Amino acid sequence: MKDTVILAYSGGLDTSVAIPWLAERGYDVVALAADLGANLDLKAIQEKALKVGAVRSYVVDARERFAEEYILPALRANALYEGVYPLSAALSRPLIADLLVAVAHAEQAKFVAHGCTGKGNDQVRFDVAIAAMDPSLTVIAPVREWGFSRDEEIAYAEAHQVPIPVTRSSPYSIDVNLWGRSAEGGAIEDPSQPVPEDAYAWTVAPERCPDTPTRIRIGFEAGRPVSLDGERLPLVELIERLNRIAGQNGVGRLDLVENRLVGIKSREVYEAPAAVTLITAHRALEQLVLTRDVAHLKWSLEPRYAELAYNGLWHSPARQALEAFMKVATQNNTGEVQVALYRGQVRVEGRTSPVSLYAPELATYGTHDLFDHRAAKGFVDLWGLPIRTRARVEPLAQVDLSALNISVMER
Ligand code: ARG
Repeated sequence: MKDTVILAYSGGLDTSVAIPWLAERGYDVVALAADLGANLDLKAIQEKALKVGAVRSYVVDARERFAEEYILPALRANALYEGVYPLSAALSRPLIADLLVAVAHAEQAKFVAHGCTGKGNDQVRFDVAIAAMDPSLTVIAPVREWGFSRDEEIAYAEAHQVPIPVTRSSPYSIDVNLWGRSAEGGAIEDPSQPVPEDAYAWTVAPERCPDTPTRIRIGFEAGRPVSLDGERLPLVELIERLNRIAGQNGVGRLDLVENRLVGIKSREVYEAPAAVTLITAHRALEQLVLTRDVAHLKWSLEPRYAELAYNGLWHSPARQALEAFMKVATQNNTGEVQVALYRGQVRVEGRTSPVSLYAPELATYGTHDLFDHRAAKGFVDLWGLPIRTRARVEPLAQVDLSALNISVMER
């Protein structure tokens, strides 16, 4: 009996070549394509897998699961790797890995495979997530192993009746899902040069955007985006709509030279209109509802959360613990945020919340001020007490007036 391998299949050249390559090594190949909101022709992808030699071809609609269990926790954490990248590809890998393992169990397979190269983060995310779900499985990474040059790969494809895209659809390596689109390679690799306009597909160049802002209201409940302009929407649809609306206004174009886990710096281009808009709006709401302590603690942990997700540690106890923290920390993130989308920018214009901690009677400089100014004096005295004490013990260097240009006038 042949061994079965479950291959994460995208329909692209690499994973299509991987099918005959695995078959030649004696495996029955079961292809698995996941719909994560990339608007691909999944029927065609499913059929293509069989045409190039898979024995079975699965297509899984995982959009809702992706939104609920991967995107939403990341949004609660305002997760941006190196402060910029909303982790679209990074979040998708553990989900695809989880699906691979589930299908491996259904098919009683001991092998799973993916199309990642040896240079990227994605191999790490797949391999580690698969091991987390079932450490007894063996991972095969054909592209990491076969050592083909581009030309050799095409020759191999031709010899095995794998259709080769006539015009290479894009000179870039592209990854797309609901949470964003990444492009790398080709002309993007020169970080000294502007990104060629053809690297973008989801966003209008800011200079060609409408010249009036689009204003929208985003509603949140406990950190979860629930409505657009008052209309309640399922999460997947809300994200899809925001990708369109914000993308038309050029929002979410990100140009980043990032540090990959494997030690390489690489220049990447992201388009994440919904992610950037939602994280911006979510942060604005947090300004209103989080206590200072929670806000500062949460900010200190957000980069850690993003790093764990980026570095392939999705299924780690550290990320799980942070997910639980973020969930509690955001339980009052309920309210509405008004943003203006305009020529590449998201501008927060207003936020409201039924559990707002903003107290106008304390904040105001007007007449109805309830803040106790005399209490402030005592507070400041005690707050500064250690500094006052130290000043007596160890005087600081004083400003030397003779070193400054000074003009003095007398009456
Ligand atoms: N650099 C990003 C990341 O590590 C994007 C990777 C996208 N993958 C791809 N095959 N183009 O998450």
